[in-house]
Amino acid sequence: MSKRSGALVSFGRAVALVSAAGRGVFLATVTLFAISGLGMVALLLVGSSLLHELSHGARAASSMRVWWLLIAAVGVAGIVSFANAAAAGMHRLLAEQTVRYCNEVMLGAATNASLREFDSAEFHDRLQRARNNSGSALQVAMAVPQVIAAVVSAAGVTVGLAVVSPWLVPITLLSCVPLWLVGRGNSEEMYSFSFGNTPQDRARFHIERIVLDRRSAAEVRAFRLAAFMRERWSRLYDERIQEIRTLVRRFVRRSAVGAGIGSLMLCAVLVLVLILVRHGEMPVEAAATACVAILMLANRSQAAVSNLAQMMEQQLYVEEFIELRALERQLLPQSTIPIAPFRELVVDNVSFRYSAADTNAVDGVNVSISAGEVIAIVGQNGSGKTTLAKLLSGLYEPSDGQIRWDGTPLSQLTTDGGLSEAGVVFQDFARYWFSAADNIAVGDVDRADDHAAIAAAAHDADATGFIERLPNGFDTPLGVEVDGGADISGGQWQRIAIARVLFRKASFIILDEPTAALDAEAEAALFDTIQDLRAGRTIVLISHRFSTVRTADRILVLHEGRLVEEGSHAELMARDGRYAKMYGLQSRAYVG
Ligand SMILES: Nc1ncnc2c1ncn2[C@@H]1O[C@H](COP(=O)(O)OP(=O)(O)OP(=O)(O)O)[C@@H](O)[C@H]1O
Ligand SMILES: [Mg+2]
Repeated sequence: MSKRSGALVSFGRAVALVSAAGRGVFLATVTLFAISGLGMVALLLVGSSLLHELSHGARAASSMRVWWLLIAAVGVAGIVSFANAAAAGMHRLLAEQTVRYCNEVMLGAATNASLREFDSAEFHDRLQRARNNSGSALQVAMAVPQVIAAVVSAAGVTVGLAVVSPWLVPITLLSCVPLWLVGRGNSEEMYSFSFGNTPQDRARFHIERIVLDRRSAAEVRAFRLAAFMRERWSRLYDERIQEIRTLVRRFVRRSAVGAGIGSLMLCAVLVLVLILVRHGEMPVEAAATACVAILMLANRSQAAVSNLAQMMEQQLYVEEFIELRALERQLLPQSTIPIAPFRELVVDNVSFRYSAADTNAVDGVNVSISAGEVIAIVGQNGSGKTTLAKLLSGLYEPSDGQIRWDGTPLSQLTTDGGLSEAGVVFQDFARYWFSAADNIAVGDVDRADDHAAIAAAAHDADATGFIERLPNGFDTPLGVEVDGGADISGGQWQRIAIARVLFRKASFIILDEPTAALDAEAEAALFDTIQDLRAGRTIVLISHRFSTVRTADRILVLHEGRLVEEGSHAELMARDGRYAKMYGLQSRAYVG
């Protein structure tokens, strides 16, 4: 949890945040607020001068001076009301810019994080808080100019009051101390609660996502999960509201005590003024001005401290945000070493353990891959195939051992977290709400305009037929959630994902279960494509389909993270080990 900082430091950071979001708008907002605050002070002074003039009797009421004072009062009131209206507009703009800025930093922090960080709950809690924080950023943006305006007008009133009676100033200012202490206490408690509640908030958002997502909509209905989901969601929300209710009760009690003490202090100051008047030590007009000034100063300084206290609750999130900004600036390694297709990729005693796990997902794997080979990886569910694929493509760094690309450790060759020479079709590939063409182009965004290459990749992935039948062909958005979008089947999506990697022109291609959703024809077509791709490329193919696997040059058999067998289909069959057993099971199932 973030450490608390002093009020001034926090305020300084908040100002830095809001002005980083939009310096011009921030300055304009603060200036308008300050004009409005000072205008109020000017009104007070003009009002008190008017009082002074009028106290000289009926004749004074028609003097030029009174007229001028009246004109000044009307002028100042007009300026104040204009400044208020303009400040409200600017304020809105400032808030919008601040939220955008914060969200931009959050997106930056997320894209600059390594894949490994995405496996940690702590990282997700942090992102979740950053997400919630856009509301806080908005409140900070709203509060900062208000605090400044309240301080400016309080300073103005202080000058006015000091002219009448300097020692009334500190006594009046003291009356806002209880309010400040209460505000700080409240904001600290609220923040601790929100911080501690992040995992529950995430659980609730997860349910919302499941219920709102089209892809899970069918399952939610098929399993009749609606009531179950809603009940879980309600429980999480009810707990949250119950906790907040308890906190608010405490806040109200505490605030009543703070406000009571503050009011008593203010009352004492006013009584003091009355006593002074009674003893003839203060003229009546001066006392009237003093009373108005005291009430106004109390009001402005209380506004300043309560705004400041509220801002500090949000500010605690801002501190989190500042940490996130540090993450955003801490870019992923950018390789400066030129990378060319490898002659040999050596996996040297590589192990990998997920942060949350107590055993290795990949355990002491040694293997060497030569350029142009087609390597298949097989193994039971959870045997470490996908993890090994992510290690080979430089997305994870080994916990132990090293992968060398022609002698250079893979970790020195990654840029933005990936390898420019590698193309991967993931088991859980992404489905973008883009056009079919752009869904393929994401494989290499620098060549997104190369329509001929996109069409060629689609052709090689056996995707041209169904894409051309879409309402707008390659320009049809994929996803019915989008206006004019079309839905495609699971296997058709898989072909798009394969086209994506074929478009990439990478020399090292990793296909993690590319055929799982393919029909027999498409699988055969992919198999032909792989044979065509071999020229100048190295291919790693992970599959549970032995019909595809058996054609590989070499097959690696993983079991519980360890490489237990290695060889061609014929060699492994002759060995009659784990591979032969798995192969036998599958072919028996086919033969019946
Ligand atoms: N992000 C993660 N955090 C913690 N453990 C993980 C994570 N991803 C995978 N694992 C664990 O690592 C092991 C290997 O997983 P991996 O996904 O590599 O298996 P796989 O061989 O690809 O399986 P499948 O055939 O089901 O795709 C499994 O025991 C799995 O539970
Ligand atoms: Mg897998």
